[in-house]
Amino acid sequence: MADQDAQFPAGAKPPALPSLRWEEPPEGPVLVLLDQTRLPVEEVELVCTDVPALVQAIQTLAVRGAPLLGLAGAYGVALAAVRGYDVDEAVALLQRARPTAVNLGYGVRLAAEAYRAAVGRGAGTEEAAASALAAARELHRADAEASVRMAEHGLALLDELLPGGGHRILTHCNTGALVSGGEGTAFAVALAAHRAGRLRRLWVDETRPLLQGARLTTYEAARNGMAYTLLTDSAAGSLFAAGEVDAVLIGADRIAADGSVANKVGSYPLAVLAKYHHVPFIVVAPVTTVDLGTRDGASIEVEQRSGQEVTEFTVPPIPVAGSDAGTGAGMPVAPLGTQAYNPAFDVTPPELVTAIVTEQGAISPVTGAGLAELCARSRQVTIS
Ligand code: MRU
Repeated sequence: MADQDAQFPAGAKPPALPSLRWEEPPEGPVLVLLDQTRLPVEEVELVCTDVPALVQAIQTLAVRGAPLLGLAGAYGVALAAVRGYDVDEAVALLQRARPTAVNLGYGVRLAAEAYRAAVGRGAGTEEAAASALAAARELHRADAEASVRMAEHGLALLDELLPGGGHRILTHCNTGALVSGGEGTAFAVALAAHRAGRLRRLWVDETRPLLQGARLTTYEAARNGMAYTLLTDSAAGSLFAAGEVDAVLIGADRIAADGSVANKVGSYPLAVLAKYHHVPFIVVAPVTTVDLGTRDGASIEVEQRSGQEVTEFTVPPIPVAGSDAGTGAGMPVAPLGTQAYNPAFDVTPPELVTAIVTEQGAISPVTGAGLAELCARSRQVTIS
């Protein structure tokens, strides 16, 4: 795998530790993850020696974000194969670890197909495992490359929509280097604007309940020296009303064939606000996030998570001074037994999306035909 720093332009600051890396110590290969549940308080790594440990890391969001889940899935298959575990079982476990981000299944399938193709050619298990690992590494490289292209296309679109620069961009959840083999999706565009001297402010939604915006996006923005301000999700309306938002930039976990976008819960209300206030609402995602097999927004499975994430503050796992409950203990914010509604994602219909930016270019307006054309372009590139 390429050295982490080699995937970032000179002067850029990736997270102190890579979000995911493959290592081969004498005791055997491992997948090392930056534990995102502990950011920004501490940079701690998790070492996965098998797929059940990786599945747990995925479900607790130690490793998260659509493109990175794709990489985790691919390396997970390679890990099972290299260590001699049952690859079919690993594939099944990984594929159902989280349902919404389509990249997870994509990465798993890619590595599994490489493994099975090698077996089909008569390769031994060692050689087949090496093929799975090579597929994971190639996906990692391609994802880093896609980040670069998305940033270019996204910045060009911003400049076209908002001539004059001085962009004030609102973002939601976390879409930077922490979710990617490179610099990310929507965040990479904001970072490109910052580097070009055209970012006036990055507004960061805190992103309840797990605070990916407050904990992770601010961490990345600070490391990159960007001008940023954190707000509660519910303050976004008054920010729009005050005329302080020039564009919304978000990522995606799955884009259906009709252009409906599943992304972190809280994205859809921003799209409605953006429409009302005539502000561009731009989705940035690699082509691997487009799922032409899912017909429309209603067909996207939205992950429902534990109500405890809403009724308790459990993240970040900061030890509470004087408490013997220890690190990671939840602090109740509602009476015991309170029911909570906790979808991890919501779906924004295409008519509320100004543009979708991918590494293959941008489409606006967002139509099924436009998306299909982008995907076809991508396949041609892959095949040639
Ligand atoms: O639940 P998460 O943290 O895995 O959610 C994913 C996200 O960070 C966002 O929805 C993001 O915009 C898509 S990944 C670039």
